[in-house]
Amino acid sequence: MVLYAKPACYRLTPDSGEHVLGIPDITLHDGLTFPVITFGTYKLNGIAGMEAMVSALDVGYHALDSAFNYENEGAVGHAVRKSGKKREDLRIASKLPGRHHDYNEALTTIEESLYRAQLDYYDLYYIHWPNPKVGKYVEAWQALIEAKKRGYVRSIAVCNFLPEHLEKLQKETGVLPSINQIELSPYFPQDEMRALHKKLNILTQSWSPLGRANKLLQDPLIQKIAQRLNKSTVQVILRWHHQLGCVPIPKAASKEHQISNMDIFDFSLTEQDMKDMATLARPDGRSHGQDPATYEEF
Ligand SMILES: NC(=O)c1ccc[n+]([C@@H]2O[C@H](COP(=O)([O-])OP(=O)(O)OC[C@H]3O[C@@H](n4cnc5c(N)ncnc54)[C@H](OP(=O)(O)O)[C@@H]3O)[C@@H](O)[C@H]2O)c1
Repeated sequence: MVLYAKPACYRLTPDSGEHVLGIPDITLHDGLTFPVITFGTYKLNGIAGMEAMVSALDVGYHALDSAFNYENEGAVGHAVRKSGKKREDLRIASKLPGRHHDYNEALTTIEESLYRAQLDYYDLYYIHWPNPKVGKYVEAWQALIEAKKRGYVRSIAVCNFLPEHLEKLQKETGVLPSINQIELSPYFPQDEMRALHKKLNILTQSWSPLGRANKLLQDPLIQKIAQRLNKSTVQVILRWHHQLGCVPIPKAASKEHQISNMDIFDFSLTEQDMKDMATLARPDGRSHGQDPATYEEF
């Protein structure tokens, strides 16, 4: 089967004539190439979850997000093997849980993550939450730096880090993460964090990019834009993330959603659309009130 790309929108058409989409790559500050959409896997567990991941890889995603605490690293590894994709073409991620921030425990946890997935390496490994009250995220970061040296991971990153946490990493280790994965959606656009990431050359990755399919998907303004462009509200939201320079991580169990969520490269939002969508920001726009300054996860 020969695939060829039309550069304008990264549509690939196999010999079968079936329509397949592709996702373009960008390059992180440490040189790792990374696609502009990641596939979210929270709640995708067991056989059904694994099959959903195989389907996602089959339709053209090449990055899978995961975490030790999602308890699906086994499903992720199995999906990688079942997909038949070349390992080097994929970007597989996991995350260190808050209960294992001690240096030695963190390294053992990463080794366990690898065993669970039956992978030789992760492309990305994140600190899942900073848990500032515990105050061990710098120690955890030193373990991630060592894990990279040992070849367990190719790129090291964080989630839910606030400016003061990034500053502390830089001051105490001199190493900044390639990515900060934060909650981000039109109701919670994180203007200050995005500006800081830009300054520090850290990629912003948006978790719960669809607000966990809450009322955001019925928002009248987004619906109006979607109607004008003949796209779905979800596609408009994902395109909005893309135009902000963020990498969204939509989770979708069904193949239909998986395909439509990738189909965002043949249209653009106007400057006015982006300005209008900026008015949707609200201080309480987080979907579950998980402020990393106080919220802790172990
Ligand atoms: N680092 C962190 O702390 C953190 C925290 C939360 C999440 N995450 C990551 O971010 C990923 C995404 O976040 P999320 O899973 O919370 O929420 P999300 O991606 O914002 O929303 C997922 C929901 O949207 C639905 N959906 C997807 N595509 C759709 C479409 N085209 N039309 C209608 N509904 C659609 C899904 O339904 P179906 O599944 O039925 O399609 C699911 O109910 C997670 O899976 C996880 O990998 C990271």
